[in-house]
Amino acid sequence: MKKLRYGVIGAGGCGAGKHLSSYAKLAEKVELVAVCDIRAERADQMADAFNAEASYTDYKEMLEAENLDLVSVATPNHVHAPATIAALQAGCHVHCEKPASLTPELVQQMVAAKERSGKKLMIGLNNRFNNWAQLGKKLVEAGRLGEIYHAKCGWKRRRGIPGKGGWFTTREQSGGGPLIDLGVHFIDVSNYLMGFPEPLAVSGQTYSKFADGQPFNPRASGYTGTYDVEDLAVGMLRYANGCTMQLEFSWASNIEEEYTFVELYGDKGGLAYARDKMTLIEDFQGSILKSNPVLKPDEEWGNVESRHFVECILEDKEPIARPEEAVVIMKIICALYESAKLGREVLL
Ligand SMILES: NC(=O)c1ccc[n+]([C@@H]2O[C@H](COP(=O)([O-])OP(=O)(O)OC[C@H]3O[C@@H](n4cnc5c(N)ncnc54)[C@H](O)[C@@H]3O)[C@@H](O)[C@H]2O)c1
Repeated sequence: MKKLRYGVIGAGGCGAGKHLSSYAKLAEKVELVAVCDIRAERADQMADAFNAEASYTDYKEMLEAENLDLVSVATPNHVHAPATIAALQAGCHVHCEKPASLTPELVQQMVAAKERSGKKLMIGLNNRFNNWAQLGKKLVEAGRLGEIYHAKCGWKRRRGIPGKGGWFTTREQSGGGPLIDLGVHFIDVSNYLMGFPEPLAVSGQTYSKFADGQPFNPRASGYTGTYDVEDLAVGMLRYANGCTMQLEFSWASNIEEEYTFVELYGDKGGLAYARDKMTLIEDFQGSILKSNPVLKPDEEWGNVESRHFVECILEDKEPIARPEEAVVIMKIICALYESAKLGREVLL
């Protein structure tokens, strides 16, 4: 079997730590060919570290020269759409990092480019691939929760602003703060578990309380010295089926410790995943049953996801993390930012 010729665009923390590392483990099916990063030294270093033949600083040159089959896009968020569209046009399957892009319109353009190319596009929503989420999906589909009428999700950090002064805190490049960065994971996984009901309206607020008085990080990649995003976002979402969802995402809050959570309230059962523990509450003939599933430890970052994408390419299957769903998630996120700006509920 001919191996898939692979290249990565953006070889920073995620490009190297997740994409190059996980695709390197699929050596029977994938050949690491080229690394592209606008920082030439980083591109060279990562090409050496992963035994890729070539390194580039311009992804268009790499796409033109290397006849790649599969490309990861792990750049700052504002580069996701142009790099993904260019790679699809060059005939590559694309594994693009979350958030898919900065606006629903841009994600829609990525979907259109995928359709024109006949290639596959998967978004790097690794939380869907975790063992608790896959078990949760089966429990919901088996009807164990009954009708889900409310959900809560969040990721709260005490002190976790990524690369302060770099691209993450520069709205033009990131699209926003923790709502788009962390929220995209858990808004996505909650909607995935609920079967993607149609969102109707969002009401929310954002805060930026940690821009000053904390050390900036001049080594952050894409350093601009800018901090024009939120560090806390809260909100409530209404769905057409009557369901609601509360959300809370922060990079920095004065709380005891960092934690993530997803809670689903059903009329037959409730499911919670918080602080790495999954709990299922069920009503059984008037008694309450509580179970804590024994989950297998998750594999290393990205392994299951990259293996799944290669399988989808080789067996012509639809990937689990579909870009069409990323359009919905991006609509929710952008509507929440709009609601915070306008100070009122926004219809989707
Ligand atoms: N799925 C996850 O759990 C997860 C975790 C972390 C980051 N991410 C995502 O991965 C992406 C990258 O984040 P990161 O933490 O690796 O950031 P990073 O700053 O460490 O890496 C980004 C890299 O992209 C390079 N780059 C910038 N513009 C480029 C261009 N036009 N062409 C080629 N390279 C370019 C930078 O030089 C840098 O090396 C982001 O979209 C982020 O949201 C996902």
